[in-house]
Formats: sequence, structure tokens, C-alpha cells
Amino acid sequence: MIEVLILILAYLLGSIPSGLIVGKLGYGIDIREHGSGNLGGTNTFRTLGIKAGIIVTSADILKGTLATALPDLFNIHGLHPLLVGVVAVIGHTYPIFAKFKGGKAVATSGGVLLCYVPLMFITMLAFFFIVLYISKYVSLSSMLAGVYGIVYSIFTKDIPLIIVITLLTIFVVYRHRANIKRILNKTEPKVKWL
Ligand code: G3P
Repeated sequence: MIEVLILILAYLLGSIPSGLIVGKLGYGIDIREHGSGNLGGTNTFRTLGIKAGIIVTSADILKGTLATALPDLFNIHGLHPLLVGVVAVIGHTYPIFAKFKGGKAVATSGGVLLCYVPLMFITMLAFFFIVLYISKYVSLSSMLAGVYGIVYSIFTKDIPLIIVITLLTIFVVYRHRANIKRILNKTEPKVKWL
């Protein structure tokens, strides 16, 4: 029973629409009506600037980290932390508090990895910034960081991790299908600050 409650808590935690909260409370703006229309850190950076972008990205990462830590925090052994983290990612992507229209699963998935395999998260982040520096596309960098994560996870020989990072990466690519189209027809916005 407690396992079900933890999963519900993880979903609700993931559902907290930080981009919507910061945009509306701090700036009186619904970021879903601006930029890419995505309820995520990148679109917050794009629409509201660096301070709001950092707050929203950090909050979205934290949701995944906290959710993944829940089994340990409550001493629940029958629940794999990665499963709880994935439920938070689902909450972030399909949030009950924002009409089920959330982000693209990147930052919250990163938060899951930060809790479960911190070294992998740090090297993924470095890989993300290298691709971003070269390509200037956040979306492409996010997807390729997922591919990097799959390769990294194989070396850990942690089967749940390999399965979860593979599924999350497929999901991240699926959520970026509009970005992929824009990259192919060269209309995807590039970051200007790198
Ligand atoms: O984390 C989402 C990012 O990869 C792309 O966001 O707003 O450019 O679609 P956006």
C-alpha cells in the first residue's frame, strides 16, 4: 500500500508545473503561449531570461531527484528508485496540475540520474554542453545526451538503469519530434549565448 502512495506522491511531485508557476507568479506570463510553447527550462530561458530559466530548470531537476530518493527516505525496499523517478518524469510530462501538457522529460530525467548515478549525470551534462557548444541546439544536445547515457549505462552493467535510460531516451526523442522537424528544415532556434 505504501508503495502505491509513494508512486502517487512521485507523480504529483513531477506534476508541479514550475515553468507555469514561475512564469505566471513572477512575470505574469504563460510560457506555453511563447517561444516553442513548451513548459520547460529551455523555453523559460528563451521567454523569461537566465534567472527564471535557472530556477525552472533546477526545480525540474529537483523533482526527479527527490522522487528517486523517496524509497530511501521512507525506507521502502520493494520499490526500485528508478521506477519512482520514471513516474515523476511522467508527471512532469503529463502534469495533472497543467491539463496534462508538460515538458519534454529532459531535466526531470536528469534529476533521476543525479540521484541514482551522480557521476553519470555529471558526465552527461558535460557531454550535453559539448554538443550544445558545437550545434547550438538544446533539443539536439538533450537527445544526444540520452544516447550518451545509454552507452555509459552499458558499462555499469546495471540492467534496470540500462532499461530505464533507453526507454527515457526513446521517450525524450518522441517528445522532441517537432524539434526534429525544425532541425531538418533549419527553423529550430539556436542558443545565442554560446
Ligand atoms: O528540454 C527541452 C529542450 O530540449 C527543447 O525545448 O523549448 O526548444 O522545445 P524547446
